[in-house]
Amino acid sequence: MRSMSLLIKNGRVITASEDYVADIFIEDEKIKAIGKDLPMKAYETIDASDMMIFPGGIDPHVHLDMPFMGTFSSDTYETGTRAALHGGTTTVIDFILQKQGNSLKAALGDWRSRSDNNCVGDYSFHMAVTDFNEETKKEIKHFIEEEGITSFKTFMAYKGALMIDDRQMIGLMEEVKKQGGMVTVHATNGDMIDYLVAKHRDEGKLSPLYHYLSQPEVTEAEASERFVDMANYTGCPGYIVHLTCEGALNAVRNATRRNQNVLVETCIQYLLLDASLYEKDFDGAKWVMSPPLREKKDQQTLWAGINQGLVKVVATDHCPFNWEQKKMGEKDFSKIPNGHPAIEHRMELLFSEGVHNGKITLNKFVEVTSTNAAKIFGMFPRKGTIGIDSDADLVIFDPNEKHTISASSHHMHVDYSAYEGWKVTGKVKTVVLRGKIAVENNECKLEKGYGQFIKRSKVNGII
Ligand code: URP
Ligand code: ZN
Ligand code: ZN
Repeated sequence: MRSMSLLIKNGRVITASEDYVADIFIEDEKIKAIGKDLPMKAYETIDASDMMIFPGGIDPHVHLDMPFMGTFSSDTYETGTRAALHGGTTTVIDFILQKQGNSLKAALGDWRSRSDNNCVGDYSFHMAVTDFNEETKKEIKHFIEEEGITSFKTFMAYKGALMIDDRQMIGLMEEVKKQGGMVTVHATNGDMIDYLVAKHRDEGKLSPLYHYLSQPEVTEAEASERFVDMANYTGCPGYIVHLTCEGALNAVRNATRRNQNVLVETCIQYLLLDASLYEKDFDGAKWVMSPPLREKKDQQTLWAGINQGLVKVVATDHCPFNWEQKKMGEKDFSKIPNGHPAIEHRMELLFSEGVHNGKITLNKFVEVTSTNAAKIFGMFPRKGTIGIDSDADLVIFDPNEKHTISASSHHMHVDYSAYEGWKVTGKVKTVVLRGKIAVENNECKLEKGYGQFIKRSKVNGII
């Protein structure tokens, strides 16, 4: 018998490419053996008969404890990563936001002061460059080579706070390409949106519905195409976050005709929810996010995009705000903090709506919830798969258990659920993070501080 060892018996192991029944032997955080009837004895044994085993989920788009629109997102690094674990997500990638006028290094220090020693699950950061200049340029190499932060987020919207212009974008792309990183983007046309927001406010149109009407599909399609063209021109690996609609995906599809690789992420809400939710007066504030929810035809496009291999990742853009915070915009939609909570339910919702309802295969489910994010962001094969010497990050999943999502039972630090009353089939039963049981019987067994910062490798935008 070896200490710090775990044997999981008879589970149905699903990776992005395989599906077989086996035992998994884990020692010292890593998977050491996989096979039928393994002879090893372990400190702890789990019987996973009739269960599926997935690689731990990776959510590469979350905002924890983030200063935004005059407040902070309501999940801390502790509550957010714990809720993620409950839902089978063992690693998250959060965003550091450079403050315009300040350095990237200063922003890193600020974010580390909130995150370090506070995470329950594993985490990494994207660096959001909101002010690209000669000084910022000098910092890129250090982030990639020393900090293990290899993806640089840009915003084409939120002018005056986060947005960069095209000149800065091109400059950043050239430097990031040179140093071996990737540029990711919130691709919506900030100037068009600001014009429409001002117009609606002037006309006294102030309800959440006008948040949606201020960001029509064209604002995203235009910016996505511009980003894709700039990435092509500079040769920089590019990744579009939270893509929502047909027009934007068409820009990416067109780029594939010149053999350009543009990586696309959508989020669970854009697959499942639609803009009719904004017709519920102020209740619609629960789903005020940017880009907004779209139409049913866009949901269909996104599911198709997943199956066509164009959409590589299903994330959450988890950015929760309590109802009191949402009420900051009760009289003016433009003051509603943008974002919604989803970190805990991404995998169960996607399994239920995607796999159980026959829209995607099991292997595709693993690809878009874990493997592709690990590959794209330089963590594979340490994360994102079930293989020898990979981190033992595993989800033991009952594909048949039915349950209902509710704020009364969720673990996120937010007082409403965007999916209240949703009935799902499939439940996360046990979660293992680097060899330790993280969640069992709906209880988190790990303390804050267990979560490790994951340094990531250089990336080339091709998976
Ligand atoms: O509404 C959103 N998406 N809030 C978080 C910030 C962002 O744009 O991703
Ligand atoms: Zn965004
Ligand atoms: Zn976001």
